[in-house]
Amino acid sequence: KVSQQTASAVELGEHRHYMHKEIFEQPQAVIDTLEGRVTKDTVLTSAFGHQAEEVFKTVKQVQIIACGTSYHSGLVAKYWFEDIIGLPCQVEVASEYRYRNPVVQDGTLFVTISQSGETADTLAALQQIKKLKSKFNIPTLTICNVPESSLTRESDLTFLTHAGPEIGVASTKAFTTQLVALSLLLTSVGKTLGLMDAKQEQKIVHGLLKLPGLVKQALAHEDEIQEIANCFADKHNALFLGRGTMYPIAMEGALKLKEVSYIHAEAYPAGELKHGPLALIDEQIPVVAIAPKDDLLEKLKSNLQEVKARGGQMIVFEDEESGVSSDKEFKVVKTTTNVGRITAPITFNIPLQLLSYHVALIKGTDVDQPRNLAKSVTVE
Ligand code: G6P
Repeated sequence: KVSQQTASAVELGEHRHYMHKEIFEQPQAVIDTLEGRVTKDTVLTSAFGHQAEEVFKTVKQVQIIACGTSYHSGLVAKYWFEDIIGLPCQVEVASEYRYRNPVVQDGTLFVTISQSGETADTLAALQQIKKLKSKFNIPTLTICNVPESSLTRESDLTFLTHAGPEIGVASTKAFTTQLVALSLLLTSVGKTLGLMDAKQEQKIVHGLLKLPGLVKQALAHEDEIQEIANCFADKHNALFLGRGTMYPIAMEGALKLKEVSYIHAEAYPAGELKHGPLALIDEQIPVVAIAPKDDLLEKLKSNLQEVKARGGQMIVFEDEESGVSSDKEFKVVKTTTNVGRITAPITFNIPLQLLSYHVALIKGTDVDQPRNLAKSVTVE
């Protein structure tokens, strides 16, 4: 149950649900998370703690552990760490990691990501890794939305996302601010290790400073997305497709739809379509594709033609330069201007949140308190 105290302390204002309110709070949540953590051209490494620079100097790889939506932000970061600074990065759900005797290497930055800071599996994974500290250099860092939580108390370094209280069980603004935090971590670790130059850093910071505006731009498409939500009224399944960082964004989009509308949704990296999910395609299964103009766009477009050829209905979120298709099988929403590698996953997630919200309204579910789910899973 939503704690009465927390719920009443946070007013709904003009919004019908906390989820809707929290989706629309995202431009401010980004501003608050960046505040005091960046200058106009640089990231302040001290945002991760006074000893952060000393710690980051020793890092040889990154291990990210999280659950649910927080796990998806970690998956986006894996693409960033390996692609942008060439640092190995592994990501795993806490409930698997804690029970499988993973091989731990010296110089691993162990990062937990959590909105609540109280998720039992994530905390147990951290506690387990801390037992190895006498043998290995494994600094621990948590990216968390709640100060004084168990994860912040147990970690060497802490970065607080300043999303503000999140009441809706389905996480929205916490995810967005986790991605902002991870981009700052990428930049701080990258420059400390000499894997990122000042020009790259400046480019990332400039992109982040534009982010509140980009998120607002995406939010402005709500009416269009509300209309598209009608496609899901009588559907029981949906497929989400993306490539690169848009694959974890597709996973997050599918999770959001499951959580709040109870429609079964699955995410696939678009290149895997032919290895199974193409068999599912017919007019009963809407296919949501996330299609920014990037290096993988042409490949995604040919994947979508494969869906079209099998009678699928596609809903495509793209930017001004993507130009996916205007055929009748495609419902295309241009939610953003062309965005960069860091800002794209953050920006493209916004319309997916709105889509889930509006499908949930049509389905008449309990949006803020979906059946069987809890905001914070503090027991196994
Ligand atoms: C629950 C919530 C999710 C959340 C996950 C991890 O399943 O319903 O919204 O993503 O726990 O929670 P955390 O607080 O660790 O981010």
